[in-house]
Amino acid sequence: MDLWKALEKQEEVDIRDAGVTANLDDHLYMYHMPYSYTAEQIRKLRTAIFHLEGRKVPRVIMVTSALPSEGKSLISANLAISIARGEDQHVLLVECDIRKPSLHHLFKYPPSKGVVEILQGKASVADCLVKTPIEKLTILPAAREAPVNPSELLESKGMKSLIKELSGRYNDRYLIIDTSPIQATVDPKILASQVDAIIMVTRYRYTREADFKMALENLPRDKVIGTVLNAIDELPAKKYSYKKYQYNKYYS
Ligand SMILES: Nc1ncnc2c1ncn2[C@@H]1O[C@H](COP(=O)(O)OP(=O)(O)OP(=O)(O)O)[C@@H](O)[C@H]1O
Ligand SMILES: [Mg+2]
Repeated sequence: MDLWKALEKQEEVDIRDAGVTANLDDHLYMYHMPYSYTAEQIRKLRTAIFHLEGRKVPRVIMVTSALPSEGKSLISANLAISIARGEDQHVLLVECDIRKPSLHHLFKYPPSKGVVEILQGKASVADCLVKTPIEKLTILPAAREAPVNPSELLESKGMKSLIKELSGRYNDRYLIIDTSPIQATVDPKILASQVDAIIMVTRYRYTREADFKMALENLPRDKVIGTVLNAIDELPAKKYSYKKYQYNKYYS
């Protein structure tokens, strides 16, 4: 069954009952605090994606970074909520960090089968989708258990056709792909060839310039549409250190 048609008629899809179970994580600013400064920065990111000079609006967007813990999953999740909040846009947040899934911590569902089990032929897409309380936002988790051959799976023909199937044929569907860090794995490099656009996350006072540059060298430059400077401490007083985002266009 065509995935998006199925989503439109959700009663026909075996969307997992064990979906989101509890309150979503506080870091989902777009959900909990849509009028906060941070949410506003995420909206800026969304707007920038929709108004890229001289190129079509990308529909398959990968979020990656050089190092672990720079905020890829958090940015992916908040960006996905922000796009889904638009009038007409449907979003599938696809977790491609298949070595270390984490979206279930943010959206509070149990570790669930997903990309890996689909590629292994053990599950169908419809079996794996997790419905969220946010209208028009669905998640495809990475895996219930980390596979022994993650890179091989992501490099397979099956992965290419999965992305093709998921992006579908309508132009109001967006795929936000959360990935692992570039320095730790080859996975983002593999996925980069299959996406329309790439957003790089860097973390304030954490990512070194050399790490960032090395990561960029592993990506197709023309697909990198911007960087997010994450977790800026805006206020000098540490006890009130709000963590914020800032979107910057990357100039090569
Ligand atoms: N802007 C922020 N404000 C507050 N906490 C943040 C922010 N960005 C990231 N964090 C925290 O830092 C940790 C790492 O964030 P996250 O999991 O999004 O990073 P990641 O790049 O996806 O990590 P990994 O490489 O392990 O996948 C999490 O505990 C998250 O809550
Ligand atoms: Mg992550």
